[in-house]
Amino acid sequence: MLLRNATVATMTGTAAYGLIADAAVSVDAGTVRWVGPESELPAGLAEAGEDMEGRLITPALIDCHTHVVFGGDRADEFEMRLEGASYEEVARAGGGIVSTVSATRHATEGELLRGALRRVDALISEGMAAIEIKSGYGLDVETEMKMLRVAREVAVARDIRVRTTFLGAHAVPREYVGRNAAYIAEVCLPALEAAAEAGLVDAVDAFCEGIAFSADEIEPVFARARELGLPVKLHAEQLSHTGGTRLAARFGALSADHVEYADEADAAALARAGSVAVLLPGAFYTVRETRAPPVAAFRTHGVAMALATDCNPGSSPMTSLLLAMNMGCTLFRLTPEEALAGVTRNAAKALGMDDCGVIAPGKRADLAVWDVRRPAELAYRIGFNPLHRRIFGGAG
Ligand code: NIG
Ligand code: FE
Repeated sequence: MLLRNATVATMTGTAAYGLIADAAVSVDAGTVRWVGPESELPAGLAEAGEDMEGRLITPALIDCHTHVVFGGDRADEFEMRLEGASYEEVARAGGGIVSTVSATRHATEGELLRGALRRVDALISEGMAAIEIKSGYGLDVETEMKMLRVAREVAVARDIRVRTTFLGAHAVPREYVGRNAAYIAEVCLPALEAAAEAGLVDAVDAFCEGIAFSADEIEPVFARARELGLPVKLHAEQLSHTGGTRLAARFGALSADHVEYADEADAAALARAGSVAVLLPGAFYTVRETRAPPVAAFRTHGVAMALATDCNPGSSPMTSLLLAMNMGCTLFRLTPEEALAGVTRNAAKALGMDDCGVIAPGKRADLAVWDVRRPAELAYRIGFNPLHRRIFGGAG
């Protein structure tokens, strides 16, 4: 495959977006073989090729934080919040995550897969080729395993790659209210072991928050992940500052996610650990958070920032990475270049994937071809999808 007459945002190198004008991309056996100005195309590669008519080619998009497998919906909570209840009040009143837990426990694998695919298809229609999918609406061994099996099935049903994340420490289920440590010992750790044993887990996550678990309660989960050789990540400092980011950094986490209440010292800790800050503007918007993540501190300390949908039925019922990019710019003041890096190069880093997220020789040919001229257009529009073509592993 040879794509010519394109503008290519390689997302590597020192130029903005790694942009190459009048460019060509040569793909062989699912891998990028050559990318550069068409005038420099090596002789052996100069076959006919396909005219991209000046369109923009970027790496295919990566959604590095989602909860797309779940039962039911939470439209009722949306109404409650519009009447004045906060996300935390809804959770404390027995709604929130644990209400999705009931619906997920009662759903069959087929029902969960069908629901997840509707959301995944929306993301694919915008050029997504890799997605992270968490468990965390089971909160018992059987349902956590069921969710992770469904997440694996998503990768069979569609041309995408899936990274699964075990999120057993997402909330305290009704049967363990007030007994957080017992839940971790009796359910979360055994579920993690069973799921890892079954090959269903690529990473381990937890929700560190007043309405969920403290850093001390999460520590044994991360310790077990380490014993199992699994990387960790954390929902940290979303609604308050509880020390999650420091815990994540101490365990060399792939990422700390949300991080609205992270401070300068947290940014420094993430930088030292090489962890990515995953920003989730859909959740910020939905819960009407007013404190934005410390983007300036992340920049100063050189923390890589990713953007994701956080697609879930409660805090972020969103299935658009383009919208996440737009919100990242407008709500968090990211540059359009940071937004694009956030759903490509840095999203790959947040998933520990080193074969995608940029366009360079030897990387997977997961590409998105857009009907736009300039990369900033991807973040600029609201509710408009300019995808022309998605290429997955050199096909499409
Ligand atoms: O990332 N913060 C915790 N977990 C999800 C919310 C899940 C839910 O509300 O169902 C999040 O925002
Ligand atoms: Fe989340």
